Amino acid sequence: MLPDIQFVQRPGIIEFGWGHLAADLLPRTELLRAATWTLTHDAPAALTYGFAQGPGRLLALLAARLSVPETELMITGGTSQALDMLCKQLTQPGDVVLVEAPTYHLALRIFRDHRLRLVMVPGDQQGLHVTTVATLVRLLRSRGERVAFLYLVPTFNNPSGVTLSATRRAELARLATALELTVIEDEAYAELWYELPPPPPITSFAADSSLIRLGSFAKVLAPGLRLGWMQAPTTVIRRCTQSGMLDSGGGVNHFTAHVVLALLQAGDFEPHLLRVRNALRARRDALLEALARMMPSGVTWRPPLGGFFVWLRTPPTIDTTTLLARAEAAGVSYIPGERFYAGNGGRHELRLAFSMLSEAELIEGARRLGKVLQDAK
Ligand SMILES: Cc1ncc(COP(=O)(O)O)c(C=O)c1O
Repeated sequence: MLPDIQFVQRPGIIEFGWGHLAADLLPRTELLRAATWTLTHDAPAALTYGFAQGPGRLLALLAARLSVPETELMITGGTSQALDMLCKQLTQPGDVVLVEAPTYHLALRIFRDHRLRLVMVPGDQQGLHVTTVATLVRLLRSRGERVAFLYLVPTFNNPSGVTLSATRRAELARLATALELTVIEDEAYAELWYELPPPPPITSFAADSSLIRLGSFAKVLAPGLRLGWMQAPTTVIRRCTQSGMLDSGGGVNHFTAHVVLALLQAGDFEPHLLRVRNALRARRDALLEALARMMPSGVTWRPPLGGFFVWLRTPPTIDTTTLLARAEAAGVSYIPGERFYAGNGGRHELRLAFSMLSEAELIEGARRLGKVLQDAK
């Protein structure tokens, strides 16, 4: 029989590769209550074709929560669907998309589906080098290339965990306006902070520019909902909502949107988010403590202040791509760094996700990985 789900648990392997919430952190009780309420009190509205932009009541609630006008919001089938839709609406094959190095590897898959040319922008501990963005855009345009947009994960980046500083956010917003550059900020992890809230989104630093912000319920509620939202200039929202696909089928994931609306209206979101934050902070701390004890010298990392990931740097003698088979034979898996680069890079880096494993698994996984890295040195 074909599988029901994407995740595969291989026997005997501690899977650091998957950036999913652990099963015990999924809001099963809250969703049961919300779905029951929806089917009891909100059918048939929840079961018919939806308004193309998303259910008005959910838009109103999100607009208040995000302090943006409803006309600049749209419900999406999660960030992946939003990115695919934006590529369809805003790009032509051969256009350039600027991406961080490293960046979310599966966004790269979506951009490649649309035959876009990917150009990497380096960063540091403050996030993306905004001045390099300006240089690259001017250079590419002077060569007659069309730069469709810049895509970035500014908050608790997947995979590096880095957060773009407030100063650079403001600088990037100014630059986007000055260069008429579309910027797509993917805020998948923005609510999952463990010490202090992150700086405000890039979109909040400039009105009237081509800034687009994507949010998802995948990391704070459940990925199977396939639900998220997009904040964008009304021209972009209009272009997306007037697509044939939405005209034919109505707003995406309309029933799920109603269930999430009911969950929000019941006041169940904030307590759940708090529980997830506390649980993930404890998992992160368990992994960091285990890494400190078990990694050989020369392996480095920075404690992430939010999100799901720890980004490890190995000595240059270790190639994390070729090492993976040995790690898996030793009962531990990770994603090699090179997967997160649109071009060359990442051979001495790797990503560990701490969101799905128990504290005991995190500790044992760190022990196994520490030994593999020690033997490879
Ligand atoms: C940065 C980032 N964006 C988007 C996604 C996927 O979002 P969605 O499930 O809403 O499509 C992920 C999932 O790993 C992610 O890490």
